[in-house]
Amino acid sequence: MKTVAGLVSLREMLRSDLRSVASAEKKTFARDAWKLKDFSDLLRPPTGMGIVAEVNDTLVGYLIGMQGADEAELLNIGVIPEARRRGVGRGLMKIWLERLFERGVKSVYLDVRTSNHPAIQLYESFGFNVAGCRPHYYSDGEDSLVMKLALAGGTWRGSRFDGDHRR
Ligand SMILES: CC(C)(COP(=O)(O)OP(=O)(O)OC[C@H]1O[C@@H](n2cnc3c(N)ncnc32)[C@H](O)[C@@H]1OP(=O)(O)O)[C@@H](O)C(=O)NCCC(=O)NCCS
Repeated sequence: MKTVAGLVSLREMLRSDLRSVASAEKKTFARDAWKLKDFSDLLRPPTGMGIVAEVNDTLVGYLIGMQGADEAELLNIGVIPEARRRGVGRGLMKIWLERLFERGVKSVYLDVRTSNHPAIQLYESFGFNVAGCRPHYYSDGEDSLVMKLALAGGTWRGSRFDGDHRR
């Protein structure tokens, strides 16, 4: 278990967390919130891996991703509104990327709404770059930016990160 600012603990997501994860997802995404079953279908080791963040045993953030061979994709990340801007999102990303690095993953991909500046800034701070665009990717017609991070010998800035590792 790791802590962010001494208050938030971070650990791998368990199936027993899924009810709390789905509840946090509802608070996080006003529209298009995933259901418990969506998380349950994806949280299947070794390909599916999740991380949760807790404050006093209450789940405040979550991340779920998928790994295939030496590539991985971020599928979902959320921090409940009242816990934002305290380093929780950064902590979730950091632990997940460290695990992927240890597993030999070389490239990490994600899609993000073109209007989601907080998330884009978070990803850029880890060294993700825009690799493409998918027009009308989301159900409401918004485009996605495809972002990529090279973990092995590339642009990864997260090695042994403590706090803000931007350079
Ligand atoms: C994106 C999200 C996960 C960030 O979580 P968070 O815990 O608030 O992020 P952190 O406090 O760790 O911030 C890390 C960095 O992200 C960026 N960031 C986060 N929120 C931001 C905001 N509102 N505006 C600008 N940059 C922001 C900053 O670079 C920040 O670093 P800084 O605090 O040193 O400036 C959170 O805003 C969220 O859950 N949003 C709704 C769900 C979502 O959009 N998920 C992503 C789908 S692709």
